[in-house]
Amino acid sequence: MIQAIVPAAGSGERLGSKIEKPYVLLAGIPMVVQTLRALESVKEIDSIVLVVSRRWQKRVRREILERYRIERVAAVVRGGATRMESVYAGLSSLDQRTQWALVHDAARPLVTSKEVSRLIQSARRDGAVCPGIIPKDTTKRVDEDNWVKKTLDRCRLRAVLTPQVFRRDILLQAYERALAKGYSGTDEASLVERLGVKVKIIEGNPENIKITTPEDLLLAEAILKKRKRPS
Ligand code: C5P
Repeated sequence: MIQAIVPAAGSGERLGSKIEKPYVLLAGIPMVVQTLRALESVKEIDSIVLVVSRRWQKRVRREILERYRIERVAAVVRGGATRMESVYAGLSSLDQRTQWALVHDAARPLVTSKEVSRLIQSARRDGAVCPGIIPKDTTKRVDEDNWVKKTLDRCRLRAVLTPQVFRRDILLQAYERALAKGYSGTDEASLVERLGVKVKIIEGNPENIKITTPEDLLLAEAILKKRKRPS
């Protein structure tokens, strides 16, 4: 059994919108709806746990799930002050029978069912997997005063995206260890790595961008328009 956790409890201040980021419209539809629809179309995913802010906890069923006919959300849970707290809230409410947990940011609405299926397939083989892309720009490490320390070998670098897929028990252990020891991570893989579990990176889809700034929204609209055009 595979369940997806969708953290959607962030405010998204860098987007400069009054509306919380997951509810900002993209091609006329709330971003979180686009994300949930993409995950619903993946046949391997049994159900979804949606993590929302306190403000949306009561509203989300009627205003989002019912209105846009999203049917595979098994639970709506309240997130926390950080992404890590939000994902942990989702993780704690997964079904005990669930073997695999897939975590995907609500802020990545352009994910495709094809890439999600590919990640799940790879997770079944490799145990822990996330998508990554080779950075397009030359990347340098700098010191506190912005002097270059080193130019990094791009071929060995990966910018990491979601969905990330793990065995549920491993991910739970990784989160519990991180919480107990007081360290944090901006993705799941970094916590799993600290357990000493190997994480495999497979090639990500560059169109699966995270919507962070107003420019990302423009780019996402353009990608959606291109996808609609008959080829
Ligand atoms: O802020 P950022 O874009 O990195 O957030 C990534 C994802 O984590 C978003 O989908 C956001 O809604 C979610 N998040 C959350 N709870 C927080 C902060 C972020 O669910 N406290």
